[in-house]
Amino acid sequence: MFYKIAQKVMFQMDPEKAHHFAIASLKATANTPLDCFYAQKFAQAPVEFMGVTFPNPVGLAAGMDKDGECIDGFHAMGFGHIEVGTVTPRPQPGNDLPRLFRLKPAKAIINRMGFNNKGVDNLVANLKAAKSGALVGVNIGKNKDTPVDQGKDDYLICMEKVYEYSAYIAINISSPNTPGLRSLQYGDLLDDLLGSLKAKQKDLAEKHGKYVPIALKIAPDLSSEEIENIAESLIKNQFDGAIATNTTLSRDGVSGLMNSNEAGGLSGKPLNSLSTAVIKQLADCLKGEIPIIGVGGINTASDALNKLDAGAKMVQIYSGFIYQGPKLIQDIVEAYRVR
Ligand SMILES: Cc1cc2nc3c(=O)[nH]c(=O)nc-3n(C[C@H](O)[C@H](O)[C@H](O)COP(=O)(O)O)c2cc1C
Repeated sequence: MFYKIAQKVMFQMDPEKAHHFAIASLKATANTPLDCFYAQKFAQAPVEFMGVTFPNPVGLAAGMDKDGECIDGFHAMGFGHIEVGTVTPRPQPGNDLPRLFRLKPAKAIINRMGFNNKGVDNLVANLKAAKSGALVGVNIGKNKDTPVDQGKDDYLICMEKVYEYSAYIAINISSPNTPGLRSLQYGDLLDDLLGSLKAKQKDLAEKHGKYVPIALKIAPDLSSEEIENIAESLIKNQFDGAIATNTTLSRDGVSGLMNSNEAGGLSGKPLNSLSTAVIKQLADCLKGEIPIIGVGGINTASDALNKLDAGAKMVQIYSGFIYQGPKLIQDIVEAYRVR
């Protein structure tokens, strides 16, 4: 009920202003009695994933809390994990405004944010300050002005800094809004990146006496052959997990709608079936050796169960959370528990 009212107000605002308003409100009210407006308590449904026990299989997808400012607030809503980021080594402003668009009739969003974030050191301070004990995945990327062939160094810098404070680390090479980033998904560049990250993980595990799993986040706009190649590289490099998928460049299902011609990645309902198809294919290629988090277009509990049926073991939500509110978390957990 509260979310429906808040949503009415926020949908009157410019999307990015509404986002900042929501993040600021959550930050101000977390760990205070005012969190009663969004806190949810429900029966949990633990799931073992990449060697970590998550309280339930529903996570917040990357991009909502890029700087990890609201970990405790999102935890209070009942998310089983919160993926913060994408964070880059240095702060960067992202692309010019406007860069975030609602496509309300399609329950979709187009964004070309471009990894706006306050940098990894700021994120680490926020990870240290979180009080709720939430399981936090940290999604890492490269700065826009780092050449793609040196991109690996940015991932290694971020990994080193966030390792101690992460439940897992997500490697984002699939955003469509950083020029050249997606080229890291192919061939030697991919193999080299995954191999280097795996070696770094080994060093850091020894240094900290703690094994933090690493997962690769992929795009939905990949051919069957490209998915096969990625799966092969994940297995070869003994990656711990995969996250499928990021936003799409496709405009299927939104043509003619206001804002549908904006550049950027499309998320929400129109992405659902494409993302599920990629999960299914990836799961077939991975043959159960590497678990998958399914994300993309989940708008109802049954959308989430379809992702699990396609081969995912956990799910994440972003756009569906904007359109449906925190109740969607509870609905999915409940459906998962009784299925
Ligand atoms: C405004 C916005 C910003 C996003 N930023 C990131 C990001 O920084 N890193 C990332 O890996 N994914 C990012 N994503 C992608 C989401 O994490 C998710 O993969 C995608 O939106 C599909 O899920 P959905 O249909 O539930 O939104 C962003 C999505 C949106 C809508």
